[in-house]
Amino acid sequence: MAASIKKIGVLTSGGDSPGMNACIRAVVRSALANGCEAVGIQSGYEGMIEGLFRPMLHHDVSNIIQRGGTILKTARSPRFHQPEWRAVAHAKLVEAGIDGLVVIGGDGTFTGAKIFGEEYDLPIVGTAGTIDNDLYGTDYTIGYDTALNTAMEAIDKIRDTAASHNRLFFVEVMGRDAGFIAINAGIAGGAEAILIPESKTDVDALIRHLDNGHVTHSSSIVVVAEGDDQGGAMEVAQKVKEKFNKYDTRVTIIGHIQRGGAPSCADRVLATRVGVGAVKGLLQGERGCMAGIQNMDLVFTPFEQAIKHNQDISPAMLDLARSLNCFL
Ligand code: F6P
Repeated sequence: MAASIKKIGVLTSGGDSPGMNACIRAVVRSALANGCEAVGIQSGYEGMIEGLFRPMLHHDVSNIIQRGGTILKTARSPRFHQPEWRAVAHAKLVEAGIDGLVVIGGDGTFTGAKIFGEEYDLPIVGTAGTIDNDLYGTDYTIGYDTALNTAMEAIDKIRDTAASHNRLFFVEVMGRDAGFIAINAGIAGGAEAILIPESKTDVDALIRHLDNGHVTHSSSIVVVAEGDDQGGAMEVAQKVKEKFNKYDTRVTIIGHIQRGGAPSCADRVLATRVGVGAVKGLLQGERGCMAGIQNMDLVFTPFEQAIKHNQDISPAMLDLARSLNCFL
């Protein structure tokens, strides 16, 4: 019975995101406050297979809420896709007496958790730790706000040099196959165009937009989501340059800088809320689901829905970008 959970394991898996440490801290402290033991599982599902467990006490999570990355380390585990390795992982959990799990990660993490939880009738609750903001069932994912601000600050800096040289910049941001970082950082950074996977990119129309006199000031910035259908910033810049040579052009790929750094206040609070919420959920019998925040409330969404019903960029955001005559 879920109500009898006594030892809660916590792990981070997939790409790290700023705020994961705040979530680990919240899970550990609320598990202890509820009379449970807390165990840190190192390196995600890989560490579970290897039995890399360590008891976590109050002070083990001191001085981490402000730190990016994850003190538990993270990994993507091809072995965990195979039933025989999941059996090894389960045996390690049983041996250690871990009877409930909180997994912090993205869709790959939840896919593994869903299969594993059902296979071994194990209570697992997830929290959304990814900069991509691409999970259904939570308004924001842990790390997204920090990554957005990092991307926006980078765009601001690029704007300075772009304006000094009258240059056209293509700036690539992360997000895998989602355009949340691109559209929000693009709007906040005053981009002239934003290319996102959610809307089909027409390179000729983009060239007309850049050439039509609408872009009259001394710098132009095109924010390109890495998952855009025309490719990343390098590919799009190349395609534009082949037909349109009016501007001196440069490409910047912001890359993994977006994954690091101290989490923003919003990410720390979100991570803390869902970390505490995940433990509360486990102890109240929730399982096979993600703890998220929607409209300020804690909600539990089955893993299957969180993964498959990808969150959409709202029509209001698309309208906002178009109202600014920002090419989408
Ligand atoms: O899912 C987070 C993310 O940073 C994506 O935005 C990006 O596509 C991917 O991970 C990069 O993965 P890796 O760190 O393995 O290169």
